[in-house]
Amino acid sequence: MASAASLKNFMRFVRQPSLRRLSSWGKVPMGPADPILGLSEEFQKDTFSKKVNVGVGAYRGDDGKPHVLNSVRTAEKRVLEANMNHEYAPIVGVQSYVNKSLEFVYGKENPAVNRTAAVQALSGTGALRVCFEFLSRFAGDQLGNKIYMPQPTWGNHIPIANDSGLDVEFYKYYDKDAMWMDFAGMMADVKKAPDGSAFLLHACAHNPTGIDPTPEEWKELSHVMKAKKHIPVFDSAYQGFASGDSEVDAFAIRHFVAEGHNIALCQSYAKKLWPLRRTYWNLQHCLWR
Ligand SMILES: Cc1ncc(COP(=O)(O)O)c(C=O)c1O
Repeated sequence: MASAASLKNFMRFVRQPSLRRLSSWGKVPMGPADPILGLSEEFQKDTFSKKVNVGVGAYRGDDGKPHVLNSVRTAEKRVLEANMNHEYAPIVGVQSYVNKSLEFVYGKENPAVNRTAAVQALSGTGALRVCFEFLSRFAGDQLGNKIYMPQPTWGNHIPIANDSGLDVEFYKYYDKDAMWMDFAGMMADVKKAPDGSAFLLHACAHNPTGIDPTPEEWKELSHVMKAKKHIPVFDSAYQGFASGDSEVDAFAIRHFVAEGHNIALCQSYAKKLWPLRRTYWNLQHCLWR
């Protein structure tokens, strides 16, 4: 198997412009650099002893090194000890895994757990892709092939939606002058959008601002979105990260469901509890009920 260094040298070699011109794939444009990962590379190079990287939302110890939670170590051990058979999973994923995910977000006793169509996808990004393609394919006409997203939002939301056939329109979210949420602006945009529009909502720990609506504001938003028959599309990548309590952070999703919304939800476990990020597939799924 090629070492990381020799692979890097090979990539450097094939990226030479003169070689690329010769290749039948030479016209394929280079994708844009990921600003966050680029920043991480700059961070690695920086020799300042007190440097702190706040660009990537994962745990770090006081020494700046990745901190693996005890719960993650325990789960990792359990996965190994379970001595799994590594058979193919069904096309919709490992059912027990999906069920646990539903219970995690809705709560064990919630009837929504049993009436939800859920599939496993490849991380939160894969779940978003499946979800957006689903919306584009089965509700494209109703949505005008459009999805509303907060301004700003996680950078990758936009190309994932575009590549799935959806145009992106933004609703107001962050007031730069007040350095806080523009809730009034957000509500005005929600009311202005055509009935039955799809709205992407960050379930908690909004990326990149970290600012979420209060429970009262979520309730108001749910009320107006229901009257407008909008489709709430939740992205939940940080359940447990915002307040430190995964139950508290599920408030918005559980409230919308209790109010009778038919939501779509994409979950990511890449940053939090699960040990399976490197050893197995991720648990993310997109659901529709
Ligand atoms: C808001 C949000 N959604 C989705 C994702 C993607 O999650 P994953 O890394 O599981 O693909 C991220 C990752 O940073 C994110 O911040």
